[in-house]
Amino acid sequence: MHASLWFFTLLPVAWGLQIPMVDSEATAGAGTWSYENCGTEIDAFQPKSIEVSPALLTPGATHNITIKGTATEEIAEGAYAEAVLKLGMIKLISKTFDICQVFRERNTTVQCPIQRGEFELVDQFELPKEVPPGKFVGSIQGYSASDDEILCAKFTVDFTSRIPRAEL
Ligand SMILES: *[C@@H]1O[C@H](CO)[C@@H](O)[C@H](O)[C@H]1NC(C)=O
Ligand SMILES: *[C@@H]1O[C@H](CO)[C@@H](O)[C@H](O)[C@H]1NC(C)=O
Repeated sequence: MHASLWFFTLLPVAWGLQIPMVDSEATAGAGTWSYENCGTEIDAFQPKSIEVSPALLTPGATHNITIKGTATEEIAEGAYAEAVLKLGMIKLISKTFDICQVFRERNTTVQCPIQRGEFELVDQFELPKEVPPGKFVGSIQGYSASDDEILCAKFTVDFTSRIPRAEL
């Protein structure tokens, strides 16, 4: 689950948005996703847009993700996030991780300390080849080293219907 977990860590960076990436009955449940803000206007991460390609999350496929937004305050070393991922009512993952360390390990375009101002975070992630059908529900809350909230998001990824396999 490691690669997909990284993806879930990215979603909340764009907490200000709630975008059904593909709005079509034909594709409902086939990897559609959305998210909602549970943070506040004073959180340090204020995202503007998120793009994922391919737009439908596809098991076994590599996806590109681009997140644009604004940091209203510098994000320094020590920032951390608490993430929970559930499949239905079943808790799959409950994890605390170091945001700056993940950015370093991933060599993302945004690195700590994240300066005030516009940012554009670009990365790739790969979903596992096998994803159980169902609706994944997650939440993530980020905090500065001094425990101020910097982001909060809830999200769903809907794999309830049969899903296409990526050609490998
Ligand atoms: C991801 O980005 C790379 C580099 O820009 C590009 O070559 C590739 O086609 C992209 N993949 C998708 C699925 O958009
Ligand atoms: C990290 O990414 C930059 C470009 O964004 C690249 O120049 C550099 O070689 C990468 N470093 C590693 C260790 O992959």
